[in-house]
Amino acid sequence: MEAIIQPTQEAASLLVARILAKELRDNPSLVLGLATGATMEAVYRLLVKMGRDEKLDFSLCRTFNLDEYVGLSAADSGSFRYYMDRHFFSQVNLDRRNTHLPDGLAADLAAECRAYEEKIQRCGGIDVQLLGIGKAGHIGFNEPLSALRSRTRVKALAPATIEQNAPLFGGAANVPRRAITMGVGTILQCQRCILLATGADKAEVVAKAVEGPITAMISATALQLHPRCTVVVDKEAGAKLQAADYYRWIFDNEPEWEEFR
Ligand code: GLP
Repeated sequence: MEAIIQPTQEAASLLVARILAKELRDNPSLVLGLATGATMEAVYRLLVKMGRDEKLDFSLCRTFNLDEYVGLSAADSGSFRYYMDRHFFSQVNLDRRNTHLPDGLAADLAAECRAYEEKIQRCGGIDVQLLGIGKAGHIGFNEPLSALRSRTRVKALAPATIEQNAPLFGGAANVPRRAITMGVGTILQCQRCILLATGADKAEVVAKAVEGPITAMISATALQLHPRCTVVVDKEAGAKLQAADYYRWIFDNEPEWEEFR
């Protein structure tokens, strides 16, 4: 794992957008794993800008989102499909047929989960997976005690997650109780992971995810097992990292990062 600390939220988001843009330029038919949440809005805004100003081309790119609420349609403003259409898909030259999210309205949810895994496999697996982190340390909706080898499945949302998402639904009572999410094992199988966390309220969980012991209680800690995972944080979210100076030294000296410094 590598941790990169950027001075501001804008700089951290820009670094992530530039990493993704480079991956896409190197491989125009990239299979890109996507995430939702407030943190990602800045990344999508920057990618949209690159599409417009630098002609970053998404026409051959395939996307797979991490998760979707059970019971919400694409037209529901709380659904992740709605979020993706609004913040990203409708504003770049992605072919809508190449954009995938689990179907939260599927009559047979278990079959939908299996089909989602198969679709990922048919595309050759995910090349780069973008990840956020919940305040309690989940990636996707892999809530506490999610098996570290879990695959796409239905998960009940933890009370803390429901609480965190309540403002988007006009109160906790309206938040869906379940979601389809890629499993921790599904995420670990991608070629490269980029986790972005910004803001002081992520500082504690970022320190646990990067430097703490691996535990199913905090699914993000499983990323320590991934051969190529980069965690990008702003100063606030990186404030509780013990070895921050070491991470800065790596970023300043590792040739891979030269073009991103
Ligand atoms: C939800 C999503 C996660 C995301 C998390 C953090 O739980 N399922 O994928 O990482 O929210 O969201 P935010 O960026 O709003 O803090």
